Amino acid sequence: MSCNYGKIFAIIFVVLNLKTFVEGAPKVPCYFIFGDSLLDNGNNNDLNTTAKANYPPYGVDFKDGRPTGRFTNGRNTADFLAEYLGFDHYIPPFASVKDSEILEGVNYASGSAGIRNDSGSHLGDRIFLGRQLENHQTTISRIANLVGNTTSSTKHLNKCLFIVGIGSNDYINNYLMPEIYPSSHLYTPTQYATALIDQYSQHLRTLYEDGARKVALFGLGQIGCIPAELQKHDTRTCVSSTNNAIQQFNSKLKSLVDDLNTNFPDAKFTYINMYSISSIIDPLSVFTRPCCNVLETMPEGQCVPGETPCFLRGIYLFYDNFHPTEIANRIATNRAYNALLPSDAYPMDIHHLIRTNNVVYDE
Ligand SMILES: *[C@@H]1O[C@H](CO)[C@@H](O)[C@H](O)[C@H]1NC(C)=O
Ligand SMILES: *[C@@H]1O[C@H](CO)[C@@H](O)[C@H](O)[C@H]1NC(C)=O
Ligand SMILES: *[C@@H]1O[C@H](CO)[C@@H](O)[C@H](O)[C@H]1NC(C)=O
Repeated sequence: MSCNYGKIFAIIFVVLNLKTFVEGAPKVPCYFIFGDSLLDNGNNNDLNTTAKANYPPYGVDFKDGRPTGRFTNGRNTADFLAEYLGFDHYIPPFASVKDSEILEGVNYASGSAGIRNDSGSHLGDRIFLGRQLENHQTTISRIANLVGNTTSSTKHLNKCLFIVGIGSNDYINNYLMPEIYPSSHLYTPTQYATALIDQYSQHLRTLYEDGARKVALFGLGQIGCIPAELQKHDTRTCVSSTNNAIQQFNSKLKSLVDDLNTNFPDAKFTYINMYSISSIIDPLSVFTRPCCNVLETMPEGQCVPGETPCFLRGIYLFYDNFHPTEIANRIATNRAYNALLPSDAYPMDIHHLIRTNNVVYDE
């Protein structure tokens, strides 16, 4: 397995040479984010939940070394994408976004949230996908007020990039917790994936009706290989039953992308293959262990507050038992934006998605 270390080092070396925050106008005028803790940048901070990351050592490598609510040591995928798109700032969370910022985008993502309303409920409050879309309605009204009318706000939204990364909690904090949630007693993995994708599909149609025309959907990573799963199953090999369930979700999501592109020819949807991108995880490697010491009580698997994290944060892939380190987020975002392998994105990576000129109102 030593060749895998070499692979990871090589990738890290290449990505560190990329420039951040470029000057000039961003490549898209606006960028909206829906999802869970992999994308959340502070929406849970004032919610009554244990699923929040607004305490040290989260944020130790972020600006000023301060926690913000991001579930990692530094930047997350939403942040890296903002840099690659040429924004001179990160997209603010819905919880605190100001009118003056709203035209450039909003981040609705919420830790422990899922496609299903009840996923993650044992941890406390969360903004599940349906509610994130309700919050987007609020944003649209605010935009319409700013630009004058709904014709102009729709025209604006048509030009924006939308990313959605959700579904992990429908497994980690639902289907894989049979003692708390009934779903695994009610559905086979195939039936569950179908039910999730049906619900997801409804939400994406709403997003389209609300003006989204360029949409990237992040599939699920290899959840069977994350530290929490390895620990739960007391193993050093990826949990195949979990990965098989995840793959069913992903393959249905990829098919959904085809359906949406067929049904809505004036829009472009694309699928980001986080499953294959996360195959750099080697469960035998020491660098697959969490970088911080993790809690054994609620919120189980998150960093112990106030403790010093590992020193080699540029090499560890996971910060706590669930969430990637900044470097892992950077590697994944690079491949989502500029596919390294043809299998990384279907039918196109984000850099190509934002160049498609399918916008009816484009001037
Ligand atoms: C927060 O949630 C817990 C558990 O659900 C509940 O017992 C508590 O009353 C809630 N606190 C507030 C301030 O709503
Ligand atoms: C989920 O919550 C929404 C409110 O945001 C509600 O309208 C819907 O009926 C709920 N769905 C289920 C299955 O409970
Ligand atoms: C909406 O606002 C735009 C820009 O201010 C204006 O050109 C257009 O006529 C307005 N449309 C309606 C239906 O009011």
